[in-house]
Amino acid sequence: MSFSRIFTISTALVGFLPLAAGHSSLWHPSMYGFNVTQQTFDYDNRPVSPLMNMTFSQWWFHGHLDFPPNDGDFFELPAGKPATAEIACNKGATSFFASSEGGDIRTTNPNDVCPNSGSDAFHTKGFDDLTGCALAIAYNNDATTVQPEDFTVFSVNQTCVWTRFTDFQVPARMPPCPAGGCTCAFFWIHSPDSGGEQNYMNGFKCNVTGATSTVSLAVPKVPRRCGADSANGKWHSAPGNCTYGAKQPLYWFQQERNNMFEGTYAPPFYTDLYEFRDGPQDDIFEDSYVYLPDPSPTAPLPILNITSEAAVSFPWNTTRIEAAPLEE
Ligand SMILES: *[C@@H]1O[C@H](CO)[C@@H](O)[C@H](O)[C@H]1NC(C)=O
Ligand SMILES: *[C@@H]1O[C@H](CO)[C@@H](O)[C@H](O)[C@H]1NC(C)=O
Ligand SMILES: *[C@@H]1O[C@H](CO)[C@@H](O)[C@H](O)[C@H]1NC(C)=O
Ligand SMILES: *[C@@H]1O[C@H](CO)[C@@H](O)[C@H](O)[C@H]1NC(C)=O
Ligand SMILES: *[C@@H]1O[C@H](CO)[C@@H](O)[C@H](O)[C@H]1NC(C)=O
Ligand SMILES: *[C@@H]1O[C@H](CO)[C@@H](O)[C@H](O)[C@H]1NC(C)=O
Ligand SMILES: *[C@@H]1O[C@H](CO)[C@@H](O)[C@H](O)[C@H]1NC(C)=O
Repeated sequence: MSFSRIFTISTALVGFLPLAAGHSSLWHPSMYGFNVTQQTFDYDNRPVSPLMNMTFSQWWFHGHLDFPPNDGDFFELPAGKPATAEIACNKGATSFFASSEGGDIRTTNPNDVCPNSGSDAFHTKGFDDLTGCALAIAYNNDATTVQPEDFTVFSVNQTCVWTRFTDFQVPARMPPCPAGGCTCAFFWIHSPDSGGEQNYMNGFKCNVTGATSTVSLAVPKVPRRCGADSANGKWHSAPGNCTYGAKQPLYWFQQERNNMFEGTYAPPFYTDLYEFRDGPQDDIFEDSYVYLPDPSPTAPLPILNITSEAAVSFPWNTTRIEAAPLEE
């Protein structure tokens, strides 16, 4: 596994609370803010710091647009294959410990998310409390001009954050990036069980490799809450209410530029609750659907473009959408 294929999400776990209570960020040389420390800003704006109730310039790219990666550092996204990320509570717990203030704090367990913070506790309980994380992409090599509406979620890991090495499946049909690469970001919102309206975002430079398709991504739409949600008294999914196809990330609980307006105890998640299937988001392309109606609780279901090219590696088809209502 080459270093370029590894990037790092950091999760600082608080005591013996479940994993979802942890602080998290992405660490990779391709990221914005790779070397930002507790002292860089006049508040703790390390990549692991959670983002909530912040101004746009504070939360967007974690306020790290002025801390770009070195030239040539990209996180590679191999079309049709997994991109492996590292998850750890501190840069020192990752392959990139050399530039960490505290040095190498890794343990003998390569999947140790947070060596000094009671990881045993969350590794044995809390798995059911995981709410997923996502990678999004904009086909724009200039992060400073990327807007929230430009990002499309292309891969979800619903069991994030659980192990340091975490796979994100890259859709097989991802088209090549423009000269100078693409702009990507990591997003995570954890379960409310351990408190805090915490959002996580870290931007990084990325590049699709091994592309075989040139079909563009569709314009991403705002995701909608459509799965069963027993924690909030909603016992049935509403499949017609889902946004299918290309979707923006979930921007929630900031002072500005939100696209989600859920309350404190009903956070939006990167799960089936918002039609973010586990794994590659294979239906995000311009030709993915032959029929894509506006969603509503009573809307008809969309119809996938079942051609050999457009349907490649679809994890489901319209028959299955109808036959298998979404679950939380
Ligand atoms: C968000 O921040 C504003 C301005 O600092 C403050 O007035 C408000 O109480 C905060 N809201 C929450 C929910 O923390
Ligand atoms: C981060 O710090 C390391 C060690 O000082 C340095 O080699 C590297 O170039 C820095 N990276 C960035 C993006 O500033
Ligand atoms: C999520 O990451 C874990 C750990 O790397 C991996 O085992 C799992 O297959 C990944 N899930 C998906 C859907 O890729
Ligand atoms: C992105 O990857 C493609 C395919 O490997 C390569 O041709 C291109 O030069 C890369 N772009 C950058 C900016 O590295
Ligand atoms: C439909 O989605 C909207 C937007 O997310 C949400 O407010 C509403 O509760 C959902 N309705 C149903 C029945 O799922
Ligand atoms: C369905 O996919 C095929 C193959 O990519 C494409 O030629 C066709 O235009 C697509 N149909 C629609 C409605 O996008
Ligand atoms: C869709 O899935 C159903 C059930 O798995 C299967 O019977 C059907 O042949 C599939 N249709 C297409 C077009 O792949």
